[in-house]
Amino acid sequence: MNSLETYSKAFDTHLKAYQWKNNPKNLYEPAQYILQLGGKRVRPVLTLLAAEVFGEDYRKALDAALAVEFFHNFTLIHDDIMDEAPLRRGSQTVHLRWSRDIAILSGDTLFSLAYGCLESYDESIMSRLTKIINRTAVKIYEGQQMDMDFETQKKVSIEEYKEMIRRKTAVLLGAALEMGAVVANTSESNKKAVYDFGIQLGLAFQLLDDYLDAFGNPETFGKQVGGDILENKKTFLYLKALENADTDQVEQIKNFFLHKNFDATKKIDAVKNLFLNTGAAASILKEIEKHTLAAFDSLEQIDIPANRKNQLRSFGESLMGRSN
Ligand code: IPE
Ligand code: IPE
Ligand code: MG
Ligand code: MG
Ligand code: MG
Repeated sequence: MNSLETYSKAFDTHLKAYQWKNNPKNLYEPAQYILQLGGKRVRPVLTLLAAEVFGEDYRKALDAALAVEFFHNFTLIHDDIMDEAPLRRGSQTVHLRWSRDIAILSGDTLFSLAYGCLESYDESIMSRLTKIINRTAVKIYEGQQMDMDFETQKKVSIEEYKEMIRRKTAVLLGAALEMGAVVANTSESNKKAVYDFGIQLGLAFQLLDDYLDAFGNPETFGKQVGGDILENKKTFLYLKALENADTDQVEQIKNFFLHKNFDATKKIDAVKNLFLNTGAAASILKEIEKHTLAAFDSLEQIDIPANRKNQLRSFGESLMGRSN
């Protein structure tokens, strides 16, 4: 087994070697721009890791990993349009640096190029990987639509929120692992178990993303801190705050999430205080822990030696210790 650093370095080398077209420049440059900004490379590392824990040379999974990261970056470009986000990975978002139209099209391009990455596999593997991406893509769009609908929906339950983050985020972590497992040609039950690990880890991952969106350090977070609050996102923090609030606090929270015309700094500060005072901030940290432990529990179902399971566990632990 290799170290996690080996996987992310190998992935970056593979990405650097990718042969980009450059005409039209305004189509390919934004796609390369977002990929070069880096990010944590969570999903491609999961693909490489899964291939190796199931007994395959991780290098065989590099193209699948590239497809996953291309696909992820496509969703980020479009997500930043929908969320009106100014910052991504510490730099200006594609739609602001170029334009909204360019962001739509370069996102679409990355989506299609992701499939192209899979053409190096033999027919049977390629067809299985393609099916995983297709099924996952639709789930993500469902999740993204729910996320936007919730901004204006009066009542959202914790279960609905969980289902939304399962679709918009967790399924891609599951798929990234499953794709590595497919390249390694492991058993159906191992594929399912590693997918379940990815789902639980993905739920914890999105909950932490929601926490950091409010309470992250602006120096290291790489995105606009408070962005979800400005967009009236119904995250776990919001839902828990409402659940725990007294009548006066309920009034304040609901009022802040009614429209987008408040002074940004004042709204962010006031809402963060409400998240803290109602205990919502403490609750989300507990919820993250719960799903992280559920992910580790699901490792029991995987039929591989313990040292290999530990690799997946270590990855989960390092991911949950993240600050961006
Ligand atoms: C951002 O994903 C979108 C979410 C699902 C929260 P990441 O936090 O993995 O973003 P990068 O790739 O590291 O920038
Ligand atoms: C994004 O969720 C999920 C997808 C990109 C599909 P967020 O909107 O929370 O992601 P960030 O915080 O912008 O990275
Ligand atoms: Mg966003
Ligand atoms: Mg979003
Ligand atoms: Mg977020």
